[in-house]
Amino acid sequence: MNILIFFYIVVSGVSCGLITESNGTAGEDINALTLVDLGKETRKPLLTLIGLALKNLHPCEVWSPWTPCDANVRGYYGTRTRTRQCVDKSSSEINTYKNETDIGLCEGKCPPGSNITTHGFCLKLHLNKLYHNSAEAFCESEGSYLINIDSAEKHEDVKNMLSGFGLSIHIDGRRATSSSPWVYKYGSQQPFVTWASGEPDNGSSELCLIFYAVDNTWYDVSGTSSRPFVCESI
Ligand SMILES: *[C@@H]1O[C@H](CO)[C@@H](O)[C@H](O)[C@H]1NC(C)=O
Ligand SMILES: *[C@@H]1O[C@H](CO)[C@@H](O)[C@H](O)[C@H]1NC(C)=O
Ligand SMILES: *[C@@H]1O[C@H](CO)[C@@H](O)[C@H](O)[C@H]1NC(C)=O
Ligand SMILES: *[C@@H]1O[C@H](CO)[C@@H](O)[C@H](O)[C@H]1NC(C)=O
Repeated sequence: MNILIFFYIVVSGVSCGLITESNGTAGEDINALTLVDLGKETRKPLLTLIGLALKNLHPCEVWSPWTPCDANVRGYYGTRTRTRQCVDKSSSEINTYKNETDIGLCEGKCPPGSNITTHGFCLKLHLNKLYHNSAEAFCESEGSYLINIDSAEKHEDVKNMLSGFGLSIHIDGRRATSSSPWVYKYGSQQPFVTWASGEPDNGSSELCLIFYAVDNTWYDVSGTSSRPFVCESI
């Protein structure tokens, strides 16, 4: 009871002084350590005391996100780690934290050589330039597919993977004539298409799709142009 009243007086006293920017949410941002520091700075030992008591109630901060799994082969296991800061009770200093590391088991998701993306796709960039049909065959010889960018998540991952390369790549999508529908070898038949301005322009030989990884748009082009490509394992 007394402590609560004291706490109110001390904290409201401080909020009139230092935390003038608060619009009522400051309490969500501060932790015990902040109280301890504030108590020292404003020479209010009670604040420091309350901060120390809170540190004992919540001796550890929340865990960091897990690191990516170090196994990138489907069916194999690897490890991942996360860390958090905890009050170091063995230290005689007031404000000392120590780091705890947690090691977890995780399952690799992608075949050798392909990379797991943020959203969990297994992608492999091939910088050797091939025609559209050879790129398709190359991916298939590796047990994968020429990539069908059929979701906003995959679009984002391809964008990030190719960022800075300045490439246009072959992607899944062909049509029999310049007025036929686009057909995709796997995944959705309605991909996440963002055509470049004026595209598709339906040139009579423009029966294949490319992704231009500079402005991240789609073009219809001739399949007999040599380009790098991305394969996806599903
Ligand atoms: C008030 O709080 C909101 C969040 O709830 C934040 O977006 C805003 O920037 C705050 N304003 C000030 C002046 O701190
Ligand atoms: C603990 O980790 C934090 C951030 O990850 C770092 O700033 C700090 O120096 C580390 N402390 C120790 C004692 O290693
Ligand atoms: C894929 O991961 C490997 C390392 O495992 C890296 O060397 C390579 O640059 C990555 N490729 C892409 C396109 O991010
Ligand atoms: C090309 O054909 C599609 C329909 O298949 C149409 O939506 C588009 O406007 C056409 N492009 C041009 C430049 O005429």
